[in-house]
Amino acid sequence: MIEITTLSELTIDGKLALHRASSSKELFDYSCDELKAWFHGQRALSDAIMVGANTVRVDDPLLTVRHVAGPNPLRVIPSSDGLLPLASTLLNDGVPTLVAVARKAHRDAVAALESKSFVEVVCCGDDIVDMPALMALLAQRGLRSLIVEGGSTLLSSLFGQDLVSRIIIKHIPIISGDPEAPTYLTLTPRPGLHLGLSRWRMDEWFVKGGIGVSIYARETAR
Ligand SMILES: NC(=O)c1ccc[n+]([C@@H]2O[C@H](COP(=O)([O-])OP(=O)(O)OC[C@H]3O[C@@H](n4cnc5c(N)ncnc54)[C@H](OP(=O)(O)O)[C@@H]3O)[C@@H](O)[C@H]2O)c1
Repeated sequence: MIEITTLSELTIDGKLALHRASSSKELFDYSCDELKAWFHGQRALSDAIMVGANTVRVDDPLLTVRHVAGPNPLRVIPSSDGLLPLASTLLNDGVPTLVAVARKAHRDAVAALESKSFVEVVCCGDDIVDMPALMALLAQRGLRSLIVEGGSTLLSSLFGQDLVSRIIIKHIPIISGDPEAPTYLTLTPRPGLHLGLSRWRMDEWFVKGGIGVSIYARETAR
């Protein structure tokens, strides 16, 4: 069993980025150095880190530990068709990345990913990456903790399958005001997902450099 923690930066109006298809890296810049170190410390404490394929396309993230000393977690990217931009930093920087594809993935796309050093491709699911199967695969490999940094489609998928045990939210004191900017969760229904009521307990909160951070744990046993 792998423990999943989500870690997100949210504006006052519940947005994960300032605008549609704009990088969430802009939100990270609102942190003081101490808070950046704390956030990267959470990465260093985790065996693996995950973002969705769209976040790779929009943000081109590194997902490494930089503002503090510590080991890099294994990067895990679900991409059902395997069509990630081949110039993405995380496919080319020599740090290990595991890309999970579905059976429908394009053969050429998979071959292109597999040709990269430090990139491994695994197949989980038919049309879309099967998250419980992927979590089981990671657990089989001895990974015990996964930090998920979004975006909303991936978060909704994990909450909708009741796979998350801990939530970390960094509250950015700004309002995006853009109705097109991505929200924390997307409520688009998908077969197999049930994003209903769930209860969480606030375990910890603190303020660093004018930014609040709250940490929640699942309130009831599943
Ligand atoms: N503020 C923050 O903390 C934060 C953090 C991260 C991202 N963001 C922002 O979030 C936005 C991107 O969010 P997004 O909702 O568009 O995309 P996303 O959640 O990053 O990626 C979703 C994509 O992942 C792939 N995927 C494969 N299997 C999946 C599964 N079982 N469940 C869910 N996704 C699966 C799908 O793409 P394919 O069909 O191509 O496989 C899916 O469309 C960007 O603006 C980014 O800047 C903000």
